[in-house]
Amino acid sequence: MKLINQTAIVTGSSSGIGRAIAVAFGQEGANVVVNYNSSREKALEVVKQIKAAGGKAIAVKAHVGKEADVIQMFEKTVATFGRVDILVANSGVQNDSSFLKMTLEQWENVININLTGQFLSAREAAKHFVAQAEGETVDRAISKIICMSSVHDMIPWAGHINYAASKGGVLMFMKSIAQELGPLKIRVNAISPGAIQTPINKSVWSSEQNMKELMNLIPYRRIGQPEDVAKVAVWLASDDSDYVTGETLYVDGGMMLYPEFSDKG
Ligand code: BGC
Repeated sequence: MKLINQTAIVTGSSSGIGRAIAVAFGQEGANVVVNYNSSREKALEVVKQIKAAGGKAIAVKAHVGKEADVIQMFEKTVATFGRVDILVANSGVQNDSSFLKMTLEQWENVININLTGQFLSAREAAKHFVAQAEGETVDRAISKIICMSSVHDMIPWAGHINYAASKGGVLMFMKSIAQELGPLKIRVNAISPGAIQTPINKSVWSSEQNMKELMNLIPYRRIGQPEDVAKVAVWLASDDSDYVTGETLYVDGGMMLYPEFSDKG
């Protein structure tokens, strides 16, 4: 088990990629905080699943875009498990619209959850990491932050500019804090998933025609599964990746390879 005796907070882990990461972390021996905002029932199911496999987990409600909520989530974590070693800043939403029709509310909602949410969670995590490491000398990272990004931190996405802008922001946010936290022995990395079969893109995978078109964008010719991302998250959270910081790992079946150019251009 690669994460034994470590405590991990996974934001937005009542479903999708976050859920798979919470479950995988539990299997690797971590104590897991399953964060949710509105889906309490689903979060409790994830907790149940982790416990059934012999792991330890609690569900904690917090809106990642609200400072007081985030602070309270970390306090609950420490009150329950005594410390916190890993943050997966995973919560993310889409609120799509053409640029001309996008409202300020749609823009702010996505930036708040996807970008400000990562700022608030990572800042709180780093404060706890630094305080609890005082006086400790270690020959590996004392703690780890994983930011969930997207291929749209690089691939422009018409009709989703709030989302693409938030993920582009995550890219530089992640790299800048990795630079600042490196000397403190805190590793910070990002995962950029491509099309992963989760509720966020149900409109794509629930339609045969949309799936057919999607395959033209994926050289590996299959949609990703949440577990594909969870395995990479386990690696980034574990000491196996101890010399990796400030990196973005694209988990996308080759979506970043400009597949449209394979027979054109
Ligand atoms: C989006 C999905 C989309 C994928 C590939 C993700 O970040 O949330 O809706 O299918 O990128 O375009």
